[in-house]
Amino acid sequence: TRSFSLAVVAGDGIGPEVTSQALKVLDVIAPAHDLAFTTTDYDLGARRYHATGETLPDSVLEEIRGHDAILLGAIGDPSVPSGVLERGLLLKLRFALDHYVNLRPSKLFPGVATPLGDPGDIDFVVVREGTEGPYVGNGGAIRVGTPHELATEVSINTAYGVERVVRDAFARAQARPRKKLTLVHKNNVLVHAGHLWSRTVAAVAPEFPDVTVDYLHVDAATIFLVTDPARFDVIVTDNLFGDILTDLAAAITGGIGLAASGNVNPDRTTPSMFEPVHGSAPDIAGQSKADPTAAILSGALLLEHLGVPEAAAQITAAVEADIAGRGAVPRSTEEVGEAIAQSVTDLGAAEGVPVG
Ligand code: IPM
Ligand code: MN
Repeated sequence: TRSFSLAVVAGDGIGPEVTSQALKVLDVIAPAHDLAFTTTDYDLGARRYHATGETLPDSVLEEIRGHDAILLGAIGDPSVPSGVLERGLLLKLRFALDHYVNLRPSKLFPGVATPLGDPGDIDFVVVREGTEGPYVGNGGAIRVGTPHELATEVSINTAYGVERVVRDAFARAQARPRKKLTLVHKNNVLVHAGHLWSRTVAAVAPEFPDVTVDYLHVDAATIFLVTDPARFDVIVTDNLFGDILTDLAAAITGGIGLAASGNVNPDRTTPSMFEPVHGSAPDIAGQSKADPTAAILSGALLLEHLGVPEAAAQITAAVEADIAGRGAVPRSTEEVGEAIAQSVTDLGAAEGVPVG
């Protein structure tokens, strides 16, 4: 038996609802693959902030660091000023644990409605840089609230940071059938950072001679994501462009209810963190309306990262089976989770392996 300790940060809004379904599916799949999960729940987010003023105390961060992986639901609540939990908790985890690869796969599953009509085979992955860019908090404002206010948000791009994420993206492209890497930036305007990215891609490319490389400005990339998304295989881009593009990528593949992500430290010196791309959706929190599929697929990414790709594939297949049979009747969060867990069991039975 392989045992894994998971830190669970269910968080705010719909976070706890979708996370419990993801945990249910992990529990169901564990026995068939000889896995055992122990979980530690961390009470972080709006509730704790209001109770204690804390977002992520250092002692909690150190405890979380001791786990094999982190499962996160959603962070953010309208009762807390915008940015406090995002910066103080979610981004703090990503930065402190050096999650420099923010992995966001986009796949159009059979039977999923897309606003694009008939876009062809959408199956790409965005490698979004996770520790630098305009997200680092390198900025400030003076004369705030006056007509002469001046505000900056300086994007940080280091040769070290760009090179490590670019190399990871190349390796992922190399491992995929189409072996294609698209750098997305804006190097016609952001000439300093943009040229660092372009030069880095050019410098690393000879190490991956089988990978075809191209480049798109971010504005053009948004056009192609809508008009010809099948052209993409692996996209590598900076933190902010990646944030924006992956919401668009989710929208064309069935919406953020299906979009999973991993905040990965490929060097494995810290636990990686897996979370749905969606937010805490306070408008539907507590109503059992949220689709837990993205959280469940994030569990699959977690298993893949922990070295159990067969189990990850089984969850993905169960999700595909459930999606293919989805009708017009809305189901509750629990019903979707239960159906996918059942589908995991059925698939296991078909393969003759005992499942939970
Ligand atoms: C995401 C979210 C976060 C981000 C926010 C909540 C800080 O939008 O995971 O994409 O911008 O990275
Ligand atoms: Mn986002």
